[in-house]
Amino acid sequence: MMSLKKVIVVNKAFPAVGVELLKTKTNVIVLPFLDHEPESLPEIKKRIKGSDALVWNTRHRLTGEILDLAGPQLKAVSTKSSGIDHIDVDAVAKRGIRLGNTPNVLNESVADITLGLLIGAARRFKEGVQELESGNWKYGENCMLGQDIAGSTVGIVGFGGIGQSVVKRLKGFNVAKFVYSGRSDKPEAKELNVERVPQEELLRESDYVILSCPLTEETKHLINADSLKTMKKNCVLINVGRGGLIDQEALYEGLKNGEIFAAGLDVMTPEPLPKDHPLISLPNCFIIPHLGSATFATRNAMATISANNILNALEDKPMQYPIC
Ligand code: DGY
Repeated sequence: MMSLKKVIVVNKAFPAVGVELLKTKTNVIVLPFLDHEPESLPEIKKRIKGSDALVWNTRHRLTGEILDLAGPQLKAVSTKSSGIDHIDVDAVAKRGIRLGNTPNVLNESVADITLGLLIGAARRFKEGVQELESGNWKYGENCMLGQDIAGSTVGIVGFGGIGQSVVKRLKGFNVAKFVYSGRSDKPEAKELNVERVPQEELLRESDYVILSCPLTEETKHLINADSLKTMKKNCVLINVGRGGLIDQEALYEGLKNGEIFAAGLDVMTPEPLPKDHPLISLPNCFIIPHLGSATFATRNAMATISANNILNALEDKPMQYPIC
């Protein structure tokens, strides 16, 4: 009898639905560590030798060194994420390994979290909750004033599935104008009445700037000391892409000095962000701990796609969402 292919899932929090699916055709080993635990990466390196496939996480960079530790039989990797900035794609491709990810299924849940951040940052939820919880609720006409969404210009950097789902939700908020910037024209923009503009123009003219693009060499630190100076003083900046899109030191200064009104961040560098990080001390920086795709249904769907990517590749079929 042929032995089953060995699949290693590197994060013990990987949903059971994905493990069960993998178990139908492979020998699955789920490593007993959470990805942020210090022993996680060293243990992964020790234990992946001889694996035929890996289900990866977003916390550890997948490098040529790690692929070589797994060995030449390694055939497939799926990351349980839409983003692939943590993967050395060239190193994977060069070794003839198949790589997949889990896009699209998280568009709706990330769009929901974007709206939550947008309203929370624009209407000063963080300061409000702090006042309430500390017993310092200052009630009055001019307390805790924020920004309106109605009548605003909303700019989306990266108009993929998440950006489009955000615009669909905001259609009910009487936004005056939607614009987007990105590498290519998106056919969906016409129907949604969203105009493509250069990124500099978007940053200069938007009351809300939403970052929903991947982190690449081109997008790294697209928000920096220079670009912050061009943005509107009332601007609310939302980041649901990756922390590296923003130069955080510059953002800290910009928020402190009133260059922009507020920020709402679901992603940051590093994750987890240390509790004494300067951004956390700012009343106008509303931060949540990378919760974009964190719903039961979405995480289960991502796990199912990861498992299908691997099972397909091991049977020499196309992955459900192939990268290479
Ligand atoms: C992704 O899938 O890239 C999201 O950021 C969740 O990790």
